[in-house]
Amino acid sequence: MSHPTRRILVTSALPYANGPIHIGHLVEYIQTDIWVRFQKLRGHECHYVCADDAHGTPIMLRAEQDGVTPEQLIERVWREHRADFAEFLIEFDNYYSTHSPENRHYAELIYRRLDKGGYISRRVITQAYDPEKQMFLPDRFIKGECPRCGAPDQYGDSCENCGATYSPTDLKNPRSVVSGATPILKESLHFFFKLQDFEVLLKDWIASGPIQPQMVNKLDEWFTAGLQEWDISRDAPYWGFEIPDAPGKYFYVWLDAPIGYMASFQNYCDRTGLNFDDFWNPESDAEVYHFIGKDIAYFHILFWPAELTGAGFRKPTAVHCHGFLTVDGQKMSKSRGTFIRARTYLNHLRPEYLRYYFASKLSDGIDDLDLNFEDFVQRVNSDLVGKLVNIASRCAGFITRRFNGRLADELAEPALYTEFVAAGASIAEGYEGRQFGRAMREIMALADRANQYIDEKKPWALAKQAGSETEVQAVCSMGLNLFRALMIALKPVLPGMAAQVEQFLQIPPLRWADLDAPLLGHVIAEFKPLMQRVEMAQITAMVEDSKESYPAAEQAAKPAGPLVDDPISPTVTIEEFAKVDLRVARIAKAEAVTGADKLVRLELDLGGETRQVFAGIKSAYKPEDLQGRLTVIVANLAPRKMRFGVSEGMVLAAAGGSGIYLLGPDAGAEPGMRVR
Ligand code: MSP
Ligand code: ZN
Repeated sequence: MSHPTRRILVTSALPYANGPIHIGHLVEYIQTDIWVRFQKLRGHECHYVCADDAHGTPIMLRAEQDGVTPEQLIERVWREHRADFAEFLIEFDNYYSTHSPENRHYAELIYRRLDKGGYISRRVITQAYDPEKQMFLPDRFIKGECPRCGAPDQYGDSCENCGATYSPTDLKNPRSVVSGATPILKESLHFFFKLQDFEVLLKDWIASGPIQPQMVNKLDEWFTAGLQEWDISRDAPYWGFEIPDAPGKYFYVWLDAPIGYMASFQNYCDRTGLNFDDFWNPESDAEVYHFIGKDIAYFHILFWPAELTGAGFRKPTAVHCHGFLTVDGQKMSKSRGTFIRARTYLNHLRPEYLRYYFASKLSDGIDDLDLNFEDFVQRVNSDLVGKLVNIASRCAGFITRRFNGRLADELAEPALYTEFVAAGASIAEGYEGRQFGRAMREIMALADRANQYIDEKKPWALAKQAGSETEVQAVCSMGLNLFRALMIALKPVLPGMAAQVEQFLQIPPLRWADLDAPLLGHVIAEFKPLMQRVEMAQITAMVEDSKESYPAAEQAAKPAGPLVDDPISPTVTIEEFAKVDLRVARIAKAEAVTGADKLVRLELDLGGETRQVFAGIKSAYKPEDLQGRLTVIVANLAPRKMRFGVSEGMVLAAAGGSGIYLLGPDAGAEPGMRVR
């Protein structure tokens, strides 16, 4: 099938330069890499650029902690990231850094154009300031007690215990994470990008279809809440680019991060002679795609297209969001050993197992995907080893031993081969539309078909019959051609194995179009095993290793007992306490809240009355395990409007260093009973 050549630029989000790549990240880079490889395999002009996101307070402080300069830190991490990506066969055309001259150039250019267009405003704001360290504190660098539930040790923006969101000035007993000092409030001049000026433009753009339907709902919420101007400046000391003509003021890391896509591409253009403007001018007919996680959608779907338009550049063709990775049904956890670094994985397992596993689970949606270890072992062994490789290993030996490696001159069953070619169209659609799971299922159905063919023809039995020589060659050549067709279809996912197969078949790199013509009358090399089975023991070893790769101190970062940092509160009178109406409730329904990592939505039966409550207990409980349980609720707490709905009460839980424990009455209690 022919298709006109497209010019495509693709990016993945830029990983922060203060930590290692982990298997959660890899969902995105593997997803993007498969899509890019598919486009290239189809013969399109496709460029894949990325970079480290090298600015911001966490990187500045991390370098200080490690006793190195920020430059040294980001250089070291850049090397590590590149090595990890390369070994996972993630093939960037350029992997750069946001701390680069090109990025400074484009950040300044975009800022100046926005300023000229009247899209930048300036005003004085009041912010938390660490008087000891002499720096303004980002929300995440202030901790204190939750203003709503009183849980200790909560960040300045939200409570992990009750899910409340607030501003750092609301925290009780706040302290700076950097120095331990009590933050003071201090004024400073800040620069803002007037996002609200772009509301109509953004709505029109979104209506033209560059965003997934599930994200469009999210967007409606954002528009309803109203677009706000966006604070793009930070005060010294800050690790980033200084704002032109504004000494001591720096671009906030999220201002220059997406611009890093352009900077990396510019650097690549300079290296290859490609023309930057062909891709970024407002009339460009090239396609530009950003692959990102749903957590950073706001930046990519609102700020970024608005900035681009305001500065006279084109908007992305589409922004593709993916969901988050969980491991065995739960958030990745350092103490459980499921926070697995790319490097740790590589020390135990072959990267293509994970590439295939993610491919088999990925869709074009934003649902989270789960890495279940048993499923992983089963799927890799059954699909890749049991089905795919099996086809080649059953046929290759006969061709080598009996026919000097020479394949037959004709296809034994042209109709069967044609079926495979025809299926290619639908598989290609699956790749194009990021429905990789669907594509993998279709490929495996074909693999079943190929194995069935060999089972029926039984070359091993034929080989024992005198006079069946030609038929053995025909059947095995047919089998190998079906295998080759499957390998073409899997090449975006398994590029390393595809290279092994190209050697085995003694052919130039496979392209999608090679599907059309089978390999006939051609001499192949000796077959060598292509892939080992995965053993559960390897997984167990990797998980153990992951526990070890985090120092004990980090695992025990939270204090052991609640009393340690949560002293008993001042006394209340019995009358005061009696105002709190505690009731037994049955959890009638419990479900995860999309877009909220920590929250579970509960429907509580109070014996005749139903209440909806959002509880920050997802880290400790699977929602489905909660269904039917009894618990205790503060029934007369004023209803609270949260981002996801109204919370009509609060369930009681013990929370401290070792986790969260939901309270419940002994057996026999009935929903609605008063607790005192
Ligand atoms: N530096 C920003 C992105 C700037 S883009 C201009 C950032 N970095 S990150 O390292 O935190 O994340 C990089 C990408 O990995 C993001 O798209 C993020 O959504 C994705 N993931 C990080 N953890 C993930 C999972 N556990 N699961 C799936 N994707 C995850 O955000
Ligand atoms: Zn709270």
